[in-house]
This record gives sequence, C-alpha cells and structure tokens, in this order.
Amino acid sequence: MLRGARIAGWGKYAPERILTNHDIERMVDTSDEWIVSRTGIRERRIVADHEGTASMALAAAREALCCAGVEGSSVELIIVATVSPDYQFPAVACLLQAALGARAGAFDLQAGCSGFVYGLVTGYQFIQSGLYRRVLVVGADTLSRVLDWTDRSTCVLFGDGAGAIYLEATEGAGDFVTVALGSEGQNPAALYMDGVGRPKTGCADSDNGADLVSMAGLPALCEPARYVKMEGREVFRFASRVLTDSVRQVVDAAGWTLDQVGVIIPHQANLRIIQSASKTLGVPIGKFFVNVDRFGNTSNGSVPVALCEAVEAGAIRPGSRVVLASFGAGLTWAATAVTWGSGARG
Ligand code: ACO
Repeated sequence: MLRGARIAGWGKYAPERILTNHDIERMVDTSDEWIVSRTGIRERRIVADHEGTASMALAAAREALCCAGVEGSSVELIIVATVSPDYQFPAVACLLQAALGARAGAFDLQAGCSGFVYGLVTGYQFIQSGLYRRVLVVGADTLSRVLDWTDRSTCVLFGDGAGAIYLEATEGAGDFVTVALGSEGQNPAALYMDGVGRPKTGCADSDNGADLVSMAGLPALCEPARYVKMEGREVFRFASRVLTDSVRQVVDAAGWTLDQVGVIIPHQANLRIIQSASKTLGVPIGKFFVNVDRFGNTSNGSVPVALCEAVEAGAIRPGSRVVLASFGAGLTWAATAVTWGSGARG
C-alpha cells in the first residue's frame, strides 16, 4: 500500500551580513531605485568567509529536526538541492549525513532554482514507495561566490541562504496532494554556468569536421562562463509563464479552486514575476508570500526560507492549502499542492 508523507519539521538559515542596494551602488553602475523598481529587492544576505553551502544547509537542517523533535541519527535519507556545492564531489548531503550522525542514504540534486521543490517531491516519493519513513530535504546556495560582481545585470539579484524540511511517513494520505515537474532544456544559455565536464569549445569544430555537440542531439554549446550568466528578459518571460501555469496545474489536479488556496509560496526571484502571475491567475497579490525584498534570490534556499517565514508569520496553519512553485536554470519548473498538517504520524 502506498504511504503518505507529512511535513513534520522546517528550518532556515540566513547569513548575518546584509548587503543593501546602496552598498551595491558603490560597486557597479546601478541605483537602489532601479533595483527596487525592476526586482523588488532591497537587500540580500552574504556568507562570511568561514561559511558555505554545507554549513548553511547544516544549520537549516538542525533547525528542521529540532522543530520535528527528532535526532539527526534517525534520518534515513538526505537530499540536498544546490547549484553551488562546497565540492564538485562529495555531495553536500554526504557532509550533512556525517555531521548529523545519520545512517542515511545521501545525494545532491540539481535542477537549477527548482531543485528544492524537485527534492521535496523526490523525498515524498521515497516515503510513498515505502522505502523510507524519515527523509530530510534541504535547499542551500552560496551564489555570492559565483557571481561576477562587476556585472550589474546579475550581481544585484542574488543572495545566500538555506532552508530545510523534514518529512515523515503518515498513516493516511498525508500532506502532498499533487505535483508538477517540467523542463525546457533547449536554450541552456538563458541561465548557466560552467561545470567541470563540459567539452572544450573547440570540439564543435574538431579536426574531422564533426560537430560533436549537435551529433549528440544536444543544444549548442554556451560561451565559457566561470560566473552566473543570464539573459534576463528571456528568463523573466519564461518564469512568468511557468509560475502561472504550474500553479494552475497543481491546483486543478487537486480539484481545488484558486480561491481555496490559502498561500502560494513562489520562488523569490523577482517581485515583478510574482505580480505578473498574480495578475494572470486573478489571485490577489496578498496570497503570494514575498520576502524577496530582504533576501534577493537565494536559489534553492528561496522556497524553504519563504515557507518557514510564512509558518512563523501565522500565514500557514493546520489545514491550510498551500502551493509551492519554483522555476530556474534548465530551464526548469516544479510545483506541488500541499494540505498543511493533514497527515497523522505513521
Ligand atoms: N542597474 C541599472 N541598470 C541596469 C541594471 C542594473 N542593475 N541591469 C541592467 N540594467 C540596464 C540594462 O543595461 C538596460 O539598459 P539599456 O536599455 O541601456 O540597454 C536596461 O537596464 C534594461 O535592461 P533589461 O534587462 O531589459 O531590464 P529588465 O526590466 O528586463 O530587468 C531583470 C532586468 C531584473 C534581470 C529582469 O529581466 C529579470 O528579473 N529577469 C529574470 C531574472 C531571474 O529571475 N533570474 C533567476 C531565475 S532562476 C534562478 O533563480 C536561478
């Protein structure tokens, strides 16, 4: 028999150091007025030298486990969604497994900024299949270390942070109602950064004349990029469309109306993307939880940090119908409809 899963604990971590728009005005040719009017962002958090993705992930994970009242040693599976791991390998999840003293399976998951919701759905599936009962899902990113701080088109947008959710098996159906995952990978150049395994750019014109990349049926190579590169307008159009579509998809599949949804937790990339989705869906902007003004885009930290803040603010209560919706590099998207606190402990 398929099992349900419930969200039993949640936690977050944001570095102490605040970088305001006025601070960035002194670094690149920009203004607080431009950043606020185009993005809604006023400030973001930046890691200290001794911090990184794993240390933030661990702090968020500990808070989530404490919230659930369980020991790290009891976790059976750890999934960390990140695009900025401390190491190419080992996975951040393995560092957490050791630090928490868990005898657990552990792996990182990469789906751009949609990774946390992909991870949450993946963790839920491991419980639903009956394989595990206790799963920790963390989203964490340190994008400040992979930004070109001379590029005003990207450096104003991002910040650092981490959030975590602890999932437990339930007796009944559990909290998760519906799920939608997607990818449009045809234009990697919309939002990308080099990995270690990419072909050398010269390979496309190799001696035998073969274009290795198109021979494999893959999209064209991007220009080399040590730092985050983005075509802002294209990502904006994509994000506005998929945020709207994915929310509608999971709500329709759940048999709910948009009126019945209590809170939508969108990926915190840009207030204008959220406003666009609000307008197209006909859902009041007040139903969207927003903290992008204080954190910027923390990539995989974004949705879980916003979720934690929404719970702390009393916007989410037992029985609330909640939609989590994210989008990011890939380009990817992921959404899930959740009935908060509906699952009894299994
Ligand atoms: N300060 C001042 N001017 C700027 C800045 C800046 N920081 N950045 C760009 N400009 C200039 C541009 O050079 C351009 O000048 P020009 O007209 O002289 O050429 C002008 O402002 C307009 O630029 P646009 O790119 O058209 O500005 P737009 O209104 O589209 O806003 C933005 C740019 C904020 C990046 C927007 O496109 C956006 O938010 N896109 C989505 C980004 C996003 O969400 N990415 C992450 C999603 S996935 C993930 O989270 C990893």
